[in-house]
Amino acid sequence: MTETLRLGIAGLGTVGTGVVKIVRKHAALLEARTGRRIEISAVSARDRQKDRGVNLASYDWEDDAVALAKRDDVDVFVELMGGSDGPAKAATEAALAAGKDVVTANKALLAIHGQALAEAAEEAGRVIRFEAAVAGGIPVIKALTEGLAANEITRVMGVMNGTCNYILTRMESEGLGYNALFDECARLGYLEADPQLDVGGIDAAHKLAILSAIAFGVRPDFDGIEIEGIERIELEDIRQAGDMGYRIKLLGVAARSPRGLVQRMQPCLVPAGSPIGQLEGGTNMVVIEGDAVEQIVLRGPGAGEGPTASAVMGDVCDLARGIRVPVFGTPAARLETMPAATTGLPAPYYLRMALQDKPGALAKVAAILGDAGISIDRMRQYGHTDNTAPILIVTHKTTRAALDMALDAFGKTDVVASEPVTLRIEEV
Ligand code: NAP
Ligand code: HSE
Repeated sequence: MTETLRLGIAGLGTVGTGVVKIVRKHAALLEARTGRRIEISAVSARDRQKDRGVNLASYDWEDDAVALAKRDDVDVFVELMGGSDGPAKAATEAALAAGKDVVTANKALLAIHGQALAEAAEEAGRVIRFEAAVAGGIPVIKALTEGLAANEITRVMGVMNGTCNYILTRMESEGLGYNALFDECARLGYLEADPQLDVGGIDAAHKLAILSAIAFGVRPDFDGIEIEGIERIELEDIRQAGDMGYRIKLLGVAARSPRGLVQRMQPCLVPAGSPIGQLEGGTNMVVIEGDAVEQIVLRGPGAGEGPTASAVMGDVCDLARGIRVPVFGTPAARLETMPAATTGLPAPYYLRMALQDKPGALAKVAAILGDAGISIDRMRQYGHTDNTAPILIVTHKTTRAALDMALDAFGKTDVVASEPVTLRIEEV
């Protein structure tokens, strides 16, 4: 296979310009490694006049990404516009229908329309590659799909939103509140156009849906993910968790269980000394457990021009080499529809609330927990104000349903003076 592989790139933002730079800088290296020249035929974005800091003069320009996707001189359509619908979806579908392979960094598109797109790709005899969609520069899709293909995967976990990990680790290291750090992220350009995608846990949940599909041979099920963002985390929780030897992370966990597919993306306490507990700043980490391999830990940059473009070009190199695997590792027709587990596995929980500082208040809380079948592991009362007494409780393993029953009962007493903060403690 010696003919040139011709790319059409839609989206010339952070990732798209990074890809153009690699194609230009590493033309000889890419040809040496894949045995084929890799060239760009045409590009597309919204604003043709924008200075993007790369020389685009030798490429044709298309205003319409769908037209780009269908061009005769494009073998691989590279979708780097973003968004689960709109032009990203339309152009990806058009590319497949026109017989092109697709490389994308778009986690929202795959988490929501992955099954339909996988079916369309297989019907057209094409593939969709998306290494950059999950954990940026970390080759986790390739690891799961290819390197670990002989394993029954038992659990996948990860910190997959760099912005949230940056906020949480800076809250701890600088003693700054969530709001100040959210504003800092906005100034630094770390936030997605809709910041709720980051801090609300949605971006990371898109990534988890993709990993689950590959790991467990199931249709991507974004709607089945229990999602909670980091907005409610206070400095006090970071400090209390630290005192007990934990750190708070926006952690994604996916596992098969007898009750269905467990998928949750939520802030959790993890042991400070664990690999995930030690993760700092915008770095991502994915932990994969399989029956043969046991556990592997992948760590690296989850975002940014270079790391993300590196992942996109890794996919392009695979296509140049003729490496073709089903979109989610298993042929689309064989991906199972697995119901979401309605009850999660039991875990210890961290519980912080303020009590009215009056006789019997603590006894009422302890009785409610007892009535819900929840056993207390540790409890501490600290920092009285005039009328309230903050308490911190760590439970033994319990279910979320039992905890919700207790929270409901707390709300009906006259002794709980603040909305309780509850965080799962995850064994990692
Ligand atoms: P970006 O900087 O906002 O760039 C988006 C590009 O798409 C821009 O060039 C924009 O054109 C173009 N575009 C947007 N809407 C369009 C439309 N309707 N028609 C034609 N072009 C359109 O985004 P990015 O950060 O590069 O992200 C691109 C993709 O990579 C997204 O799916 C994102 O989730 C994913 N991703 C990004 C990162 C990262 O670190 N940035 C990491 C992993 C994955 P104009 O420039 O003319 O406005
Ligand atoms: N907003 C994402 C993050 C970008 O912070 O990790 C990479 O997907």
